[in-house]
This record gives sequence, C-alpha cells and structure tokens, in this order.
Amino acid sequence: MKNALAQADHAVETLRAQRQDHYYPRFHLAPAAGWINDPNGLVCINGVYHAFYQHHPYDQNWGPMHWGHATSRDLAHWQHQPIALAPGADDDKDGCFSGCAVDDNGILTLLYTGHVWLGKEGDDDQVREVQCLATSEDGVHFVKHGPVLLPPEGIQHFRDPKVWRTADSWWMVVGAKENGLGQARLYRSDDLRDWQFDRVLSGAQTLHQGYMWECPDFFPLGEKQVLLFSPQGLAAQGYRHRNRFQSGYLLGHWQPGEDFSVTQPFCELDSGHDFYAPQTFTAADGRRMLFAWMDMWESPMPSKAQGWAGALTLPRELTLGAEGNLLMNPARELTALRTQPHSFAAVSLRNQRQMLDAEVQELALTLKLTDSDAERYGIAIGNAARLYVDNQAHRLVLERFSEDAGLCGCRSVPLPEGDELSLRVFIDRSSLEVFVNQGVACLTSRIYPADGQLGISLFAESGQAQFAASQAWALESIWD
Ligand code: FRU
Repeated sequence: MKNALAQADHAVETLRAQRQDHYYPRFHLAPAAGWINDPNGLVCINGVYHAFYQHHPYDQNWGPMHWGHATSRDLAHWQHQPIALAPGADDDKDGCFSGCAVDDNGILTLLYTGHVWLGKEGDDDQVREVQCLATSEDGVHFVKHGPVLLPPEGIQHFRDPKVWRTADSWWMVVGAKENGLGQARLYRSDDLRDWQFDRVLSGAQTLHQGYMWECPDFFPLGEKQVLLFSPQGLAAQGYRHRNRFQSGYLLGHWQPGEDFSVTQPFCELDSGHDFYAPQTFTAADGRRMLFAWMDMWESPMPSKAQGWAGALTLPRELTLGAEGNLLMNPARELTALRTQPHSFAAVSLRNQRQMLDAEVQELALTLKLTDSDAERYGIAIGNAARLYVDNQAHRLVLERFSEDAGLCGCRSVPLPEGDELSLRVFIDRSSLEVFVNQGVACLTSRIYPADGQLGISLFAESGQAQFAASQAWALESIWD
C-alpha cells in the first residue's frame, strides 16, 4: 500500500499546483486538489478530530476511491494529512468506499467498504462489497487487516459501515439492497473482527422508500434514537425530495437486543440543493456533531475546471427540540473563526434594496414577519442567490442563479410559526448554508458566482419589510 499512497499523495500535489481558487472554500473542508464526496471516519481520539473523506486524488472526477484525511484540534482549524487508504488488495481493489472510525483503546481503527466491480467498471448490478478493517498507531499511517464482514447471500449492495460501542458490545449498521429495496442492517461484535448479524433495523417496504439506503448512522439523541441514512430512488413530492438523492432520518426508540420502533417517518435533514451522505460523531464533550458532503450526485460542478471538486458542510451540532424534533445548528467552535464584527441597525425597506457595507461571511439576521407585508423580502448574495420570505407561498426560499440551468432554481421550507424569523447564514466562495430559527430547518446549496461577487444586500419587493438589527462577521481561513 505504501507505494500506492505515495503515488496518490504525489498526484494531489501535482494537481494542487494547478488549482485555481476562485471557488475554493475559505472555511469548509475540501480536497487540496482532485475530487471528494462523503465524509468518512469522523472521530475525536487522543485530543484530535479526524475527518476522512472519499477522495480521488488523480482527477477532479469520481474514480477509484481513496480516503483523504484532515485533522483539527478545535473543530475550526484544519490541516491536510497524507492520504490514509488507497485501493490495493483483492478485496478493495476498485475502491475504499465509505465507512467510519472508532477509538479502540486509543487505537484509531477504520471500518470501510472494500469495493470490487465484478462486471464492467461502473456496472452497479455486479459488485462485491465487504467490510474491511484498518488500524493506525500514530493516527496518520494505516495498516490494512482485510475483510471482517462478508455480504450475506442474496444481498446486492452492502456498504458504508458505521460502528459504535455500548457498555458490552460493538455495533455496526450497514446500508444494503435486498430484493431491489434499501435497508439498514445491524451487526454485533465483541472485538471489531468477528461480526454476527443481529437484525434488519429498518427497510423500504416499497420502491418509493428507496432501492438502496446509503450511509446509515444510528445513535441516541436525548430520549430518542435516530436512524440517519441516504436513500436512493425516492420520488419528488411537491416541495420534498427534489434532489437526485435524499438524506434524512427516522426517529424512534431502541434498546440493544430489540427492534427499532419508529415514531416519526422519514424526514429530510436539510432542504437545500447540496447535502448528502451525512455522518455523525461525538465531540470531546459528548455533543452529537455531523458533517455532510456539500454536493449532490450528477450536479454540475464548475470548480472541476479549476482542478478540484467537492466540499464538506460546516460541522454541525444535532439536538432534540422541546417538541421532540431534531435541530441542526453550526458547531459553536466556529465562532473562533470570526473577525471584523459589524452591527447593522434595524431598518425598514419599501420596494428597495440596501447594501450591507462590510465583508460578510457569517450573518445573523432577524426578519419581522408580522410587521412586513412585502411580497418578497430578504437578502441577495451578489447576483448568485437570494434568500427571501415568499409572503404568498408562506415559505422561506433559497433561489440560486447561474448561466448553467442545472445550477438554477429554488429550494424552500415552510415559514415556522411566530412573529420573527431568525437566520444564520454562512457565505463561502461557492456555498450558502442557512440555519433557520435556531436549527428548526436548514438549507445548504452550492453557488458559483461567475463574477466572484458575494456582497450582501437587503431587499423588499412589492411592499414594506422590517429587518431587526443584525450582526455580521468575516471568517478566517480554516487552514492552519
Ligand atoms: C454515497 C456513496 C456511498 C459509497 C461512496 C462511494 O455518496 O455512494 O454509498 O460508499 O459514495 O464513493
């Protein structure tokens, strides 16, 4: 593997020298160069946060998957590390697919899917997928130990292991496709090496619930248990399920040795254009955190022309709201990136647009819903996007603009109850993340301003809108 890793690191360096930074994020994890998709192996061990990711170091397009690697001491500032895993041996010769990391008595241990094409390359109907194990003494260099779990008879897809520990066992949830339907399968082990099937935790009953469930994750949150997964094959329904694939969760209750009893049906976790394959981890103080891939399969990615593609979302914290609903907010560690604070006074606009005179990468803004009658009001981000209340549809809309029709269009969420709408907006060079009313809803979308302009203005159309006093910051680069 050493040789394959050295070659892969060299390939990234070569591509890196040609990378252009027009769209390259200041404060999101992205590859030094080449392609990335899912976050993998998120873990805090020996005082260090690790984020691995699906990576193709040779090219800005998806290809034989490696595991890229970055580390952080504070969840805000990051360093790229050498590539951790490269495809190599028989069992993972066509790719080291998604997986997780655990702290096994201080040993950083990875569980990932070894992928092999049995037919033509790219023929999803003929694949072999096994769960493999690798360990590291120093947190940077890994030794592969081969497969620890083979696919059961009759399972067509079998990937993306996520492992956690309870008092007396290790548990693994794996995404699978059986008889053309997606499912999450549960396994149990004493030593991370020998795994026994426990049960199917949950599965699609009809094709409408997905032909494959990718990247499952299963964890307690407050009084509830969450099954997070990324189903492929859901049909769009009105405003819901508009992207190529979805990511969302079931809420319920679970005890080791019992069935997962679901109390709330599938709900999307983020309502923007670009959010997929989220994975959670526990922060040093026990908070439940999450990263997702901030892109979508088959979407145009203009940054490819600049030598790289793909980024992760900001780290986020998951909590349970008072009504038992799931809330998602930016990690509080991110306030360490704030610089150049600005306060803007409350303002009322009528059929007007007003520029915020500051460099804004984070904006905390409150819209007075009951005091506003404009048909549309909110913020414009250069000519790249608008985020506004649609007073007729009663929705908060994220609309993006591009010369590429595949990068245009709206995503939206219903306006929550109440007189005010509080928004926290993060604007990086090619992304927008919006957190609504302390995490009740989120919208995450990539934007690609051709002119690089991301200045913020407030606007009100066809009527009057009331904006409360707001605060804004520029954010430091996350790269040490
Ligand atoms: C999700 C996914 C995973 C797989 C990986 C391959 O985006 O398709 O199921 O392990 O990407 O890169």
